[in-house]
Amino acid sequence: MNSAYLDTITLADCRDHLPLLEDGSIELFLSDIPYGISLDDWDVLHSNTNSALLGQSPAQVGKSAFKRRGKPINGWSQADRNIGNEYQEWCHSWADLVLPKMKNGASLFVFGARRTIHRVVNAFEETGFLLRDILAWKKDSAFDRAQRLSIVFDRRGLKDAADEWRGWRLGNLAPVYEPIAWFMKPYRIGGTIADNVLEHGIGATNIDACQIRGSNPTNVLEFGFQRDERRTHEAQKPLSLIEFLIKLTTREGQTVLDPFMGSGTTAVAAKHLKRHFIGFEIVPEFHRDALQRLDREGGVRYTQEPAEYQPMLFEKPKEPYDG
Ligand SMILES: C[S@@+](CC[C@H](N)C(=O)[O-])C[C@H]1O[C@@H](n2cnc3c(N)ncnc32)[C@H](O)[C@@H]1O
Repeated sequence: MNSAYLDTITLADCRDHLPLLEDGSIELFLSDIPYGISLDDWDVLHSNTNSALLGQSPAQVGKSAFKRRGKPINGWSQADRNIGNEYQEWCHSWADLVLPKMKNGASLFVFGARRTIHRVVNAFEETGFLLRDILAWKKDSAFDRAQRLSIVFDRRGLKDAADEWRGWRLGNLAPVYEPIAWFMKPYRIGGTIADNVLEHGIGATNIDACQIRGSNPTNVLEFGFQRDERRTHEAQKPLSLIEFLIKLTTREGQTVLDPFMGSGTTAVAAKHLKRHFIGFEIVPEFHRDALQRLDREGGVRYTQEPAEYQPMLFEKPKEPYDG
């Protein structure tokens, strides 16, 4: 029943197709889902039409930071404060569709933002998944965006206040990690996880295959992009990180589902590791870039486009996407 979707990325809203997958057929869900922080149009998952949102009000013209980062934590209206609830409902809308497709005892890794991951956890728990852990993906570096308060006051001509508040800043600490919620589909009541491994071939972790510099891995995962890793998606994740999570929880021949593929990192990682993959992507440009990325892996050809086509590359962003 999964044959139409297996080992390809389907251009579609995943919610239209998830119900068509075979029940109990997926061994791993691994997805870097939209974080609901208004990073781009595909990340706006609420109905708030407040003109300040996404930098549309006259006061925001020319200030690109609002467009990238949304609003200050404080919010500007009740509608702004409802955004989290609406994001949770959106997560619920597809988590419910995923539950029956997973094998008992299967893992689900869901990437999220530090300020919205609790919404994902609530939605997944309400759906019936169990939270196993919150992993931290530790990045190579992070921008410290906190403004110096003395400079802010200097610009306002408030010299005394600037002197009094020298050394203080407005903002958070440098965001050097992103959370990954690790869930499990419950296994048979009365059984154990070891029974589940025997019954469904899933539920254990392959620690020997995932050694980090000769030691067992911890729940802080330090992975970065390789020098020659092409970047075509603003939210792209390092291939080595995705490969690690697949190796940790699955065996060759098992199936990984990623309904929010972006540039196709999960598909490429699965292919490298001889796992099957099922993927969806809603934006045609990302979908085309992902298929071309798979083409470059050799073997099966996914696109009809001439080989010389070059996707737009993201060089190392000045201000990285940090959730
Ligand atoms: C955070 S990005 C994934 C990036 C990916 N991990 C990578 O390494 O390139 C999430 C992706 O989900 C896609 N998306 C959003 N809503 C979707 C939906 N309902 N169905 C399928 N794809 C969707 C977005 O277009 C976006 O490319």
